[in-house]
Amino acid sequence: MSYKEVYQNWQANPEAFWMEAAEAIDWDSAPSKALFDKGDDLYEWFADAKVNTCWNAVDRHVEAGRGEQTAIIYDSPITHTKREISYVELRNRVASLAGALRAKGVEKGDRVIIYMPMIPEALEAMLACARLGAIHSVVFGGFAANELAVRINDAKPKAIIAASCGLEPGRVVHYKPLLDGAIEQADHKPDFCVIFQREQEVAELVEGRDVNWHGFQYGVAPADCVPVEGNHPAYILYTSGTTGQPKGVVRHTAGHLVALNWTMKNLYNVDPGDVFWAASDVGWVVGHSYICYGPLIHGNTTIVFEGKPVGTPDAGTFWRVISEHKVKSFFTAPTAFRAVKREDPAGDYVQNYDLSCLKQVFLAGERADPDTIEWAQKQLNVPVIDHWWQTETGFAIAANPLGIEELPVKLGSPTVAMPGFDVQILDEGGHPMKPGELGAIAIKLPLPPGTLPTLWNAEERFRSSYLTTFPGYYETGDAGMIDEDGYVSIMARTDDVINVAGHRLSTGGMEEVLAGHPDVAECAVVGVSDALKGQMPLGFLCLNAGCDRPHAEVVKEVVALVREKIGPVAAFKLATVVDRLPKTRSGKILRATMVSIADGKDYKMPATIDDPAILDEIKLALQGLGYAHD
Ligand code: COA
Ligand code: AMP
Repeated sequence: MSYKEVYQNWQANPEAFWMEAAEAIDWDSAPSKALFDKGDDLYEWFADAKVNTCWNAVDRHVEAGRGEQTAIIYDSPITHTKREISYVELRNRVASLAGALRAKGVEKGDRVIIYMPMIPEALEAMLACARLGAIHSVVFGGFAANELAVRINDAKPKAIIAASCGLEPGRVVHYKPLLDGAIEQADHKPDFCVIFQREQEVAELVEGRDVNWHGFQYGVAPADCVPVEGNHPAYILYTSGTTGQPKGVVRHTAGHLVALNWTMKNLYNVDPGDVFWAASDVGWVVGHSYICYGPLIHGNTTIVFEGKPVGTPDAGTFWRVISEHKVKSFFTAPTAFRAVKREDPAGDYVQNYDLSCLKQVFLAGERADPDTIEWAQKQLNVPVIDHWWQTETGFAIAANPLGIEELPVKLGSPTVAMPGFDVQILDEGGHPMKPGELGAIAIKLPLPPGTLPTLWNAEERFRSSYLTTFPGYYETGDAGMIDEDGYVSIMARTDDVINVAGHRLSTGGMEEVLAGHPDVAECAVVGVSDALKGQMPLGFLCLNAGCDRPHAEVVKEVVALVREKIGPVAAFKLATVVDRLPKTRSGKILRATMVSIADGKDYKMPATIDDPAILDEIKLALQGLGYAHD
């Protein structure tokens, strides 16, 4: 069948399409139907089924005779470690961990926060929660204690599972003090913490609260899989919105299983037993869907890579891992390829490895610039596929579905809408726009299985963030267009979210931190273009009247403050002091105009600007930072 036929099949009968996809899942009690319309624009999938995620991701492969197949390959160039875990070993390890969690009181529906680096134990912790029907929330290691505290307060976990440390090139990330600080800051306190002691740094345990990962499993009976309802939350993953309060994206169990399993063959073109590698982090949605769940549900081998595209030890690391572990499909972010390309433009490292196993490469997380795609195509000589998705959707909205049909690539476009997604370009009044016209990208409701049904404990915020601007649609927050052939292009965000090195960050959240500095009267943070990271945050500060401190000192302090409050991942290093911010007459800060000036792009003088002369001051300040050159 062609892509067109598959998409039309879905359009003609979505219910039959998803019920057929659901046949690939092992149900404790099969769903009577696919879509459950809860009314008022809320939908659930396979809600009356009973199922367990861990069973589908682990146990069933053992039962089916694949127990000896490698489930997880851990490859850590940072610690010079390589290790393989078979499906049967994974089953035993996860059952034991789940048993120990249960012995300490964790049951179905309890929340568990996981704060771990890229080690297999992070996946084991996720799967152990899934085994019990506990709801995990993984927090990325690059966030600071304050961000962790915000998530603890929102998710109210019964337990936190953490590692003693993470390892960044040349630096140990001391997780334990961050964890202790977060618990101290948070109003909610977990009953207990499980600490996985890494040999690179052994952390001190808090008596009566912390238990040792291995020790607390001693003598405990392993746990069986607990069947849960199809609409039981599998996990909460916090993502950046317009404010410093992150949104808790909820993922329901059954839709997640069905949708991810469907994508493994149809999109990523792998069969059970093939090696699939997503070089991301478990703290992001890519890590949830395509390091942990998707490949394991489908019976693939997944790779947990603790390293960076460059510097661990060199720009050939990706190629070494691909050739050594026989990776068939590889998934990374464009920024990672840009980092490799910068160090190895001619692809000399590629020549050192036999990459005949590699059949396709997928890019997501930010716009894939044509230069990077062309460079990768030339070096690797396989399809290089840009695909577009979000934490909220959990899998690709638009892609080139290689397992169905390889569609012609149009550089700059993540190709076409996937079955399940009726993607439309709307004008401000919510009217569909013509092919090639730029507008807001919206998806007609209902969204497919596997996408967010709501936000954790925040249904009103779910509605106001996604459902109210365009009634009957999900608002993606991205702007773009669709051409005559149905190819989608993603041009920009319509909100205050920026994308730094494939990491989604809130400029609003950074502004809240800057505004907390005692000398800052007013501020704005914008995302300026960056050749490596796509975008970089840049802060404008207006100081309080009478503040005569050297500007450089204040700038240094706010840079440190963002690192302390949000974390190193914010990559906030650029800020400048200005007298005033450009605003409209109604007081709205003209952030988009500032971005155009910084990027040296033409811009139209906003008709509503209060005082056009301010823009010259902004330009001068930006030039002082090396931006805004014509
Ligand atoms: N734990 C702690 N700190 C972390 C971290 C983690 N898991 N991940 C990143 N950081 C830190 C980095 O060490 C860096 O700290 P520094 O300011 O002390 O140097 C800071 O956060 C910014 O990190 P990053 O923006 O990633 O920059 P980098 O210079 O370390 O690396 C790239 C640049 C391009 C190599 C890297 O960003 C990369 O591989 N990106 C791919 C992202 C990706 O896969 N995203 C998932 C979406 S598919
Ligand atoms: P996240 O939720 O972290 O996955 O970030 C989602 C956002 O990243 C999207 O809303 C887009 O703005 C951006 N994004 C992800 N993939 C792509 C892509 N292939 N092309 C353009 N933008 C993308």
